[in-house]
Amino acid sequence: MKDIYITTPIYYVNAKPHIGHAYTTIVCDVFARINKMLGNNVKFVTGTDEHGKKIEQSAVNAGIEPQAFTDQISELFRNMLPVLNISNDDFIRTTQERHKKAVTAFWTKLYDAGYIYLGEYEGWYDIRNEAYFSDDELVDGKSPLGGDVTLMKEPCYFFRLSQFTDILLKYYDEHPDFIFPIQRKNEVVSFVKSGLKDLAVSRTTFKWGIPVPNDPKHVIYVWLDALVNYLTLNGYPENNDQNNDNYWLNVHHFVGKEIVRFHAVYWPAFLIAAGINPPKQVISHGWWLSEGEKMSKSVGNVQDPIKYCSLFGSDALRYFVLRELTFGNDGNFSLTGFINRYNSVLANAYGNLCSRVLSFITKYCNGNLSIPSNIDEDLVEFTNSVDSALNESISYIEQYSFSKYLEKIELAISYANKFVDRKEPWRIKDNQTILNNILYVLIDAIQKISKYFEPVIPIACGKVLQCITANSEGITIKALDSVLFPKIDENATFDVYE
Ligand code: MSP
Repeated sequence: MKDIYITTPIYYVNAKPHIGHAYTTIVCDVFARINKMLGNNVKFVTGTDEHGKKIEQSAVNAGIEPQAFTDQISELFRNMLPVLNISNDDFIRTTQERHKKAVTAFWTKLYDAGYIYLGEYEGWYDIRNEAYFSDDELVDGKSPLGGDVTLMKEPCYFFRLSQFTDILLKYYDEHPDFIFPIQRKNEVVSFVKSGLKDLAVSRTTFKWGIPVPNDPKHVIYVWLDALVNYLTLNGYPENNDQNNDNYWLNVHHFVGKEIVRFHAVYWPAFLIAAGINPPKQVISHGWWLSEGEKMSKSVGNVQDPIKYCSLFGSDALRYFVLRELTFGNDGNFSLTGFINRYNSVLANAYGNLCSRVLSFITKYCNGNLSIPSNIDEDLVEFTNSVDSALNESISYIEQYSFSKYLEKIELAISYANKFVDRKEPWRIKDNQTILNNILYVLIDAIQKISKYFEPVIPIACGKVLQCITANSEGITIKALDSVLFPKIDENATFDVYE
């Protein structure tokens, strides 16, 4: 049993949440629930990133004050959580007092230790991505992240990132699992090897941010502000001994591939400068395309997670996103793909297995099964095959292979369905003991499968598990009172876009 701290990126509040935000949040939730299932103590957090020029500008465009604007959009992110059935322990907004206090304390720590100095900055600023770039970093006149850039010059505080080139390279070397997967690690290592420059960590060209202590003309760079959220959520600065805090020592940051650099270069450098251990692991996932194309409002193909949940249930969305995308790679979100997987696995395989076995037992065995006194070879073999598929499934979690995890659970389900078809319990009328034993091992399998499947589809598995109760002589079974996953008509049309 260990303590584990799991974080999502905190989301910008310039626009409402979409499937990409939902995906990261679901991945973290499933990872959190699996850890709980394994008996670990989990702290799982998410929230919104609310400062910076981009958000100030979005508020101006909407014609309202930044605080009122961020209140509105942050609420949309917060409201998405129960819809997706997310089990987070806390939700941070960077405009909260607790966070301002943490960022101020963190800055002061870096400043007092001599890692921050006042200078002047000139460079190309990408507003959308809140980052400066030098001439040689621009690609076709745009920032390497694809945003439009403007030349800006401003007095500016710098963080002595240039002192961290060797320190970070040594850190990556000594902590080979720090960045996952390896491909992202290689990118980070080659970026750092090319040499790090000092980093501009304050701005004077806008006001919407946390003021620099003792120099309020400046606001703190939004990425420094945002990254500190992970400390705020762990009680910093009151909790000032993070290096002896078991959650901090095992913190896992899940991020999209585009923000690995911030988490795997800047963040460990800031932390080392402040005397705090870098995170245990930065885990990066790929991006969703929609129907084969980049999601965009103008194309009209932005998948709406809330619509999927209201049409098909949160279990179905959670299952699809984890099963469809090989974690770390990009993947394609399509309604057809969604319906196929839903119908074949959730409705036909799992839903059907549970409903037919549970209702059969209530009808033909009065809902009661007794503990078998001896079980024949064939039944033992079936139980072993289910157990080995499930054991294998869990072994994939260490590598964040959620789709393989599910593949193995599906294998166990298919063993159980085949077992039912082969044993044909509805034909066994004359031997109650044989019938009892077959159904008993089946229920045992359904129970185990449901426990492993529960972190991904908690509502359906919760219903199934509630129908099975152990008693002193055996088990009591209730039938399901509704269809777990009603079949979706493949020819129907659904409105699933924003
Ligand atoms: N505010 C920063 C993060 C600060 S963390 C200290 C930020 N916010 S964001 O709103 O742009 O959200 C980024 C995250 O959303 C990505 O890292 C990724 O997790 C998720 N996604 C956004 N679009 C996505 C897809 N199309 N596909 C998958 N996930 C993507 O960056």
